Formats: sequence, structure tokens, C-alpha cells
Amino acid sequence: MRLYLAVFALLAAVHCEELFNGDQVLRIHAESESHIHALKELEEDVESGLDFWTHGFSTERPVDIRVPNSSLHAVKDFLKKNNIPFTVMINNVQELLDKEKAEMVSNAKMERSTKSFNFAAYHDLETLYSFMDTLVASHPNLITKVRIGNSYENRPMYALKFSTGGVSRPAIWVDAGIHSREWVTQASAVWIANKIASDYGVDPSVTSLLGQMDIYLMIVTNPDGYVFTHTNNRMWRKTRSVNSGSSCRGTDPNRNWDAGFGGPGASKDPCSESYHGPFANSEVEVKNVVDLIRGHSNFKSFISMHSYSQLLMYPYGYTCTDIPEKSELHSVGTAAIKELTSLYNTRYQVGSICKIIYQASGGSIDWTYNIGIKYSFAFELRDTGYYGFLLPANQIIPTAEETWLGLKYIMEYVRNHPY
Ligand SMILES: *[C@@H]1O[C@H](CO)[C@@H](O)[C@H](O)[C@H]1NC(C)=O
Ligand SMILES: [Zn+2]
Repeated sequence: MRLYLAVFALLAAVHCEELFNGDQVLRIHAESESHIHALKELEEDVESGLDFWTHGFSTERPVDIRVPNSSLHAVKDFLKKNNIPFTVMINNVQELLDKEKAEMVSNAKMERSTKSFNFAAYHDLETLYSFMDTLVASHPNLITKVRIGNSYENRPMYALKFSTGGVSRPAIWVDAGIHSREWVTQASAVWIANKIASDYGVDPSVTSLLGQMDIYLMIVTNPDGYVFTHTNNRMWRKTRSVNSGSSCRGTDPNRNWDAGFGGPGASKDPCSESYHGPFANSEVEVKNVVDLIRGHSNFKSFISMHSYSQLLMYPYGYTCTDIPEKSELHSVGTAAIKELTSLYNTRYQVGSICKIIYQASGGSIDWTYNIGIKYSFAFELRDTGYYGFLLPANQIIPTAEETWLGLKYIMEYVRNHPY
């Protein structure tokens, strides 16, 4: 019986979990229009199973692609033939994943025996949700758990609401993990939730902020995707919805908002990592947030956390036309980054999505900006590609600490500039 169970478990593991043995992440430097043209050709070759870790092609910024072992030879040949310089950023993706998993397993054991939550570790959804309950229970007068709806696979979606009272106070929204594989964002958001809770009544800035405004913090904005990154495919980015007429699942939830929907920088192909979905707000995870924001109607700031690249961005993504408040948002962003950088000297760039990365339609902060939430920002946290999405857990706390300084600057600014 025991043998039978072991074999069954092994088969299940082999069957479910996608492995990345021998996959490499290549960093490619386009130096000319013809290089960019060649990279676009590569992007259209769906057969090679390339996973673009960065988006947009330019001569200003390298392109990172995870190349499956089976396509490695052909892709390197192609790059060499076209004289496009590249380096190997990650030599074997699976090796990093194995290390990450081993650390998680030993951490979980440690947490069980000490009955404590380790902020310097990655956690599964269940553990994050149970920590949220612990936090709410220990700060009942400050935090409530707001269930904003359920995900496609029927998991509850929660925002933590930090409030000291009042009716429909002006509020700040912060979300993490809308792209599920960007693990440092969910992990940083948990640390930040705990930080806000413990700084209230201690740090005058946080105390006065919460005296006037509410903060909504959504730690896991794409719970189905997050669970899938733990059980089946660590590289999963999208939702898990079924696409009719396609065997590929999921929509890119940050191409699904009603702002320039279906325009440049989003894909019509359900198999693409940036598939925009059948219509705006088709993804229930997006719709749940949209409904909450609309129903509340007093959000003054909306901040979304992504990784990686070390950028702080403001609208627009769907067009390169400047927003009217560009100079104000640019200076707020620059000052926020000055705070962020002051801690560990982590360098960020500031700009509009369209100008700093590329034209991308259907993004959350474009929608929030267009409905009148002026202070709409998106962070791309650490790193700049050395580990990419596989940032080691020992960088979680430093990332969260520095990000908090940037966030806090924006929050203070919003409080001081009512509109
Ligand atoms: C990668 O593919 C080659 C064949 O193209 C194979 O010989 C090698 O074992 C593979 N490496 C891994 C780690 O799977
Ligand atoms: Zn993202």
C-alpha cells in the first residue's frame, strides 16, 4: 500500500508539475531596426515556446526570453546569424526552481515548529490567507478583511482595509500579484501589510495618514494563477479562465481593463502571455476590482505592484500621448524613488508606461486614471533581470522595505494634495 501511494504520488508529480530542465534565460540586445525586426519574427514563432520575460522591443532596453531547452540551439543560431548580441542570464532555470522549492519546504517546516510567519520566505495561498486572518485578529480596530468576490476557480479574493473610522473616506488602493509569477510582489505586500499595522500609532506619518484616509491592500490579486504557480507551473502569469475554441488557458489580467482595450501591446492569441481576453473586464478578477473601485468612488490613488525591472510608471500605456498632469506625476514618482533608493541604493527609472517600456493597452492604471484617480502608478520591483521572476527569498525583506519608503512618499503626497 505504501509503495502504491509513493508511486501514485510520483506519477502525480510527474504529471502535474512542469519542469524547466536546461531552459535558459537569454538577455538580448537589439542594436538596430533590423535586429528589432528579427526579434519580432522570433516572437511570432509560437512553436519554439519562447517565454518573453520582458515586453516591447527597443534599442534602449534589453529583451529577456526564457528559451526552452528544446529550442535553445535554434534560437542561439538565429541570433548569431542575425548578429544580435546576447548573454545567458540564467543558465538552467530548473536549478533555480529546485533551490526555491527546497527553501520553501524547509521554511514551512520551521514555521510549523515555531508557529510563526517568516517574511523572508515565499508562501502558498493558504498560508498567505491564514496570515491575513492572524493580522486582522490582532488589529481588529484597524484592519478588516473585505471579500471583493471570487476568482474564476471560485477562490475568495480579499483586500485588507486599513481604516480608523469615518464614512467613505478618501482612499488609496495598492495591489500585488495580478501577474501570478511575480512572487516578490505578493511577498512584499504581506510585509507591507504587517508594517502598516505595526507602525500605526507609532510612526507619526502612518498614524496621521490613517487619521484621514483609508488604505486598501490586495495581496493576491490573481489567486488562481498564484495557486497554479505553486502546483503546476512556476512561470504562470495569466488568469486560469478557459478560452473557447482554444486549448490554451488564461487571459493577461493586465491587458483586460477598459482602457484602450485590444490595442497595441496586447495579443489576440489566447496562447499568448499577453492575451487581452474576449472583452474588457471579461476576467472576474479584474471585474471584482473594477466593481469595488466604482462602488467606493472616493479612491484618490491606485498603485499596482509588478516585477521585475525596477521602474515606477504612470499613465499612459495604451498611448504615448502625455497625460495633462505628466509633470506632477513625474515629480511625485521621482521623489518617491529618491526615498526608495536611499535605503539600499536600488536604482529605479521613472516615466510613463508607453515611454519607459512600450505601448501596452488594457492596463489597470490607465483605466483608474481615466475614471479620475489622478495618482495612478505601477511599480516594477527588483531585480533588473539577474534572477528575474526567480528572485531569491533573501531579497524579499529588503525589496519590501525600500518599496514601502516609495509607497509611503506617494501616500503622504496624496494626503497633502486633496482634489
Ligand atoms: C537539452 O536538450 C539536449 C538535446 O537538444 C539534451 O541532450 C539535453 O539532455 C537537454 N538538457 C536537459 C538538462 O534536459
Ligand atoms: Zn506584471
